[in-house]
Amino acid sequence: MRAHPAGALHGDVTPEPHPLGPPPSDLGGLNPLIWPIGTTRAGGVVQLGGCDVRDLVGEHGSPAYILVEDDVRARCRGYRAAFGTDTDIYYAAKAFLTKAVANWIREEDLSLDVATGGELATALAAGFPADLILVHGNNKSLDELSAAVDAGVGRIVLDSDIEIARLAHVAAAAGVRQRVLVRVTVGVEAHTHEFIATAHEDQKFGFSLASGAALEAARRVAALPSLELVGLHSHIGSQIFDTAGFEVAAHRVVGLLATIRDALGVVLPELDLGGGLGIAYTDDDDPADIADVAKQLRAIVERECSAASLPVPRLAFEPGRAIVGPAGVALYEVGTIKDVDHIRTYVSVDGGMSDNIRTALYGSSYTCVLASRHSEADPMLARVVGKHCEAGDVVVRDVWLPSDLAPGDLLAVPAVGAYCRSMASNYNVLPRPPVVAVKDGGGRALLRRESLDDLLALDQG
Ligand code: LLP
Repeated sequence: MRAHPAGALHGDVTPEPHPLGPPPSDLGGLNPLIWPIGTTRAGGVVQLGGCDVRDLVGEHGSPAYILVEDDVRARCRGYRAAFGTDTDIYYAAKAFLTKAVANWIREEDLSLDVATGGELATALAAGFPADLILVHGNNKSLDELSAAVDAGVGRIVLDSDIEIARLAHVAAAAGVRQRVLVRVTVGVEAHTHEFIATAHEDQKFGFSLASGAALEAARRVAALPSLELVGLHSHIGSQIFDTAGFEVAAHRVVGLLATIRDALGVVLPELDLGGGLGIAYTDDDDPADIADVAKQLRAIVERECSAASLPVPRLAFEPGRAIVGPAGVALYEVGTIKDVDHIRTYVSVDGGMSDNIRTALYGSSYTCVLASRHSEADPMLARVVGKHCEAGDVVVRDVWLPSDLAPGDLLAVPAVGAYCRSMASNYNVLPRPPVVAVKDGGGRALLRRESLDDLLALDQG
């Protein structure tokens, strides 16, 4: 076995101990909590949506992002079934959006949350019904607001005083009465990475409940003839595993519904509790079943409304990661392999932080397997790194891989469907990888690979 004992490096820098347990008995195992629906091995080779990963790379090149359509659709249906038809489920486009994804979302009876003019344009280009689109953003431009109003979007979530004035003007000029929600900062510290927690007081989103700003915003909006205040919105953060934060948020936001009723004499009919439910990235993660979560969230809102003598509003949720995250797998080709003084083996692949920034940005954990063949070799402790000019360019921090790994082998990294390709960059002038949808043994590029010509075309000399 080529496992590396921690502390084997001499010198003045102590190597980090690795947090992994002992190597699993089946190195190539595919935990169904982490891998897309229907993922198998045939002759040792990973099959995604019925497609052999070697064929996918043969046709689309490496690295490539693969999205298993049946998995996305199954998760949409899971949300729909769990929450029932009297709840609006807005898929959060920021997780990953193309025209085809917008079509799947619509076909599965979900609505869409967009956060920029670009996401809105993609949805509209796909023919997504505008009245089923909800628009977010803490700094929507006049152009973005006008595009949204002109398209006839169903809801716009207001995030600041300046935006209230801006939208009131845009809607009045267009001669429409725009439905809006007020985004409330409920003061919850969600148990997640600080960059993706959004409901504590000291951050950029929404109107503070505690300071009275949210009530004042509701008062202002209610007095503007071009805006129709239909509800409140709260989003506490992302990659959250327990419902405790939602419980506090629901308690506080229902309290504000009651305050608004008492102060303004209006009972708002809608309550949007945002997105944020976590998914499994490694064997250590055990996300709750969506049907249980839905039951708990509904019970919490019903209890809070009953205590405040309010009718239960129409609920809305905005899952992003939980819809597309588990459906995505990144395929990389191994380029170089370096044993670093018996600490661990660095395996360099042909992508990295430009297609998956999450490890570097949030310290996220991923896992991966040798995907292109079977191996019986002993395990080695590996760190999978990218090809960028930074030591922090890590894809998978710690993983056991077969010690006969060689250049040309393909590695597959699961749970990358959300916030990887959508956050990809061209760092080091690396063209961004394609996204290939697979289903029933067939693959089709939803996004083609960028070429160097694409990138050079932007360079004005
Ligand atoms: N609604 C609002 C208002 C949001 O800001 C977000 C995510 C969502 C819904 C969807 O949250 P989800 O269900 O996907 O957790 N780039 C980070 C995640 C940022 C989330 C931003 N807002 C990551 O890679 O973890």
